[in-house]
Amino acid sequence: MIPLLELREVTVRFGTQAAVRDVSLALQPGAALGLVGESGSGKSTLLRVLLRLQDVASGQILMDGAEITTARSARLRALRCDVQVVFQNPHSALNPRLYVHDAVAEPLQIQGGLSRTRLRARIDGLLEDVGLGEEFLWRYPHELSGGQKQRVCIARALAPGPRALLLDEPTSALDVSVQAQIIDLLRRLRARHQLAFLFISHNLAVVQLLCEEVAVLRQGAGGGARPGCPGAARAGA
Ligand SMILES: Nc1ncnc2c1ncn2[C@@H]1O[C@H](COP(=O)(O)OP(=O)(O)OP(=O)(O)O)[C@@H](O)[C@H]1O
Ligand SMILES: [Mg+2]
Repeated sequence: MIPLLELREVTVRFGTQAAVRDVSLALQPGAALGLVGESGSGKSTLLRVLLRLQDVASGQILMDGAEITTARSARLRALRCDVQVVFQNPHSALNPRLYVHDAVAEPLQIQGGLSRTRLRARIDGLLEDVGLGEEFLWRYPHELSGGQKQRVCIARALAPGPRALLLDEPTSALDVSVQAQIIDLLRRLRARHQLAFLFISHNLAVVQLLCEEVAVLRQGAGGGARPGCPGAARAGA
C-alpha cells in the first residue's frame, strides 16, 4: 500500500541543534499510528513537518507516494484539506470571539462552494458528529467546557472532509473523566469516516486504545543522539 503520509530520514534543525534526526515513518490510509517519546523528543516538530509548517534540513516528505518536501500551491492545498490537525489545548485553539457556528463554518467557507442552507446543514451535521446539539451553535468558547471545546475543534478538523487527523496530545489538557469520552469519540469518528490517525501522546494506555501501531521517538534536541541509532523505531502497540 502507498502511505498517505511518509517521512524519509527527516532531520530538523533549530540553529545548530538537530531537534529531529533521520526519522522515517509512514501513515497508511485508514491506519492509526501512535507517536510516543519523551518531552522534547520532537513529536510536535514532526507533526509540523508533515503539515509543511516546518522546513526540514534534510530528508523527504511524501503524500500518496509523491514528494511534497518543497511542494507549493495546488499540492499544498490538497494537503491542507486532506490532513487536519487537533491540538492539545482547545482553550487556545479557538478564537474567543467566534461563535461555535462560525468556528466550524470557517474552514467550510475557505473551501467555498456551499449555499447558505447547505452550509448550515453541514455545520449541524458536524456538530452532531461530535456529540454537540443545536443549543451550542450560538455559544462562545468561554461558554463551553474543556471537553465541549475540544469537540468543536474536532468538528472544525472534520469540516474539510480530511483523510487523516494529526492529533497532538488531544486529551492531555482535559479532565480525566472527559479524556475517556473524547478518546471514545475519536474511535467512533475514525471508523465512521475511515480516517487515518497520527496520534501523539504521553499516555501509552490511551495510545493502545486508539492505535494499531506505535512509533517511538527516541532522541530529541540535546538528547545526545548516539550514532547508528535511528531516531524512530516501530513496535507493535
Ligand atoms: N521553533 C523552535 N525553535 C527552537 N527550538 C525548537 C522550536 N520548536 C521546538 N524546538 C525544540 O525542538 C525540540 C523538540 O520539540 P517538540 O516540541 O517537537 O517536542 P515534543 O516531543 O513535542 O515535546 P512535548 O512532549 O513536551 O510536547 C525541543 O528541544 C524544543 O525545544
Ligand atoms: Mg509536543
